[in-house]
Amino acid sequence: MATPRNFRIIPLADERPRKVSVASVASELRTTGAGLTALQDAQGRTLRDLRISVTDRCNFRCSYCMPKEVFDKDHPYLPQSALLSFEEITRLTRQFVAQGVRKIRLTGGEPLLRKNIEVLIAQLAALRTPEGLPLDLTLTTNGSMLAKKAQALKDAGLQRVTVSLDGLDDAVFRNMNDVDFPVAEVLRGIDAAQAAGLGPIKVNMVVKRGTNEQQILPMARHFKGTGIVLRFIEYMDVGATNGWRMAEVLPSADVVRLLQTEWPLVALEHASAGETAQRWGYVDANGQPDKQAGEIGVISSVTQAFCGDCTRARLSTEGQLYLCLFASRGYDLRTLLRDGSADAQLTAAIRNIWEQRSDQYSALRSTLPHGSPTPGRRVEMSYIGG
Ligand code: GTP
Ligand code: 5AD
Ligand code: SF4
Ligand code: SF4
Repeated sequence: MATPRNFRIIPLADERPRKVSVASVASELRTTGAGLTALQDAQGRTLRDLRISVTDRCNFRCSYCMPKEVFDKDHPYLPQSALLSFEEITRLTRQFVAQGVRKIRLTGGEPLLRKNIEVLIAQLAALRTPEGLPLDLTLTTNGSMLAKKAQALKDAGLQRVTVSLDGLDDAVFRNMNDVDFPVAEVLRGIDAAQAAGLGPIKVNMVVKRGTNEQQILPMARHFKGTGIVLRFIEYMDVGATNGWRMAEVLPSADVVRLLQTEWPLVALEHASAGETAQRWGYVDANGQPDKQAGEIGVISSVTQAFCGDCTRARLSTEGQLYLCLFASRGYDLRTLLRDGSADAQLTAAIRNIWEQRSDQYSALRSTLPHGSPTPGRRVEMSYIGG
């Protein structure tokens, strides 16, 4: 790995987080007689999802995300004082909800490493949309602590979890997490989540050609008919440390072809607008979708970008708002919070930032010569969350 030790991703020397000027944004806040206008970005995309990273730490070292050589014991993780507090996260989330957000995903790093995460979950679960409905409140985890925590998460008000799992074979899995973590413990965590009612559970498998593609069929066999939705994710050039190469991407079309050697599959409709996954259903003897057998999904960020209806914003652990997974910098909301800004000023900032958004990096990549990663330095996924 060519990346130097002590490589510090954020802040970048020449790409400091953008300061948000309250005075300028407040003056641009537009209202109608009925209140604020519906919020759309420069490409007409609404803001529906907020992914909140609650820690930049993880107990795994997946090479596609936190390679050991970079994220070693000398890596400068964020100090406690830099992290948004639960109260700060909840206050910001309330403003985002007022602007259209309906789905919250807690991420990391590994979000279950954040102390007392249940307290944050309870605060977020108490929020209501302007129509008086609860939010879709979910969390992405590596599953390593789920067996212990599933019930407490459910009790706090979490609705569902997504578990990352890159293979069933113990040796392959230990190799991918790179900390020798046994697969059996993650499977126990998934069982606990199911028993606690944290469903529908999704399992995300990042597929790296030459590393775990032989796990595709065993994973599908294992989860078929369990009510758990398995999704295969194309290995992405996110971040700056994973040494991404197109040669290691297995296109989703190949994954689907492989699955079809064992089971006929039918394409299913999107479950919601802006969904990341294409859904495929197992079929019954009449060729109809078999609800009992369930479905799988493929997330084709590399070969079929889905930026066109991307409704996702990302809030980093230290309160930077990122408009794209591939962005090189964020907008500093923490300073606004800590400067004593009023709610109206936070709202104005969020609206102003989103209205200027034109990011569509994955789509842009597909216009580049085959195999080129997106140019520019990018933030790490462990910092803004998957
Ligand atoms: P569900 O509502 O549970 O289906 O959530 P989701 O579809 O947003 O999926 P999830 O949060 O599990 O994301 C799955 C994976 O898709 C992530 O780990 C990323 O690898 C990828 N992904 C999610 N959002 C984006 C995005 O905005 N852009 C790109 N390029 N990839 C994304
Ligand atoms: N490519 C694709 N997905 C990734 N994730 C992290 N890094 C990558 C990458 N390079 C996703 C995985 C993991 C989640 C936390 O982030 O889905 O499950
Ligand atoms: Fe940790 Fe998830 Fe990144 Fe793996 S992919 S290092 S489990 S945050
Ligand atoms: Fe959204 Fe950026 Fe991902 Fe495109 S690459 S789907 S704009 S986060």
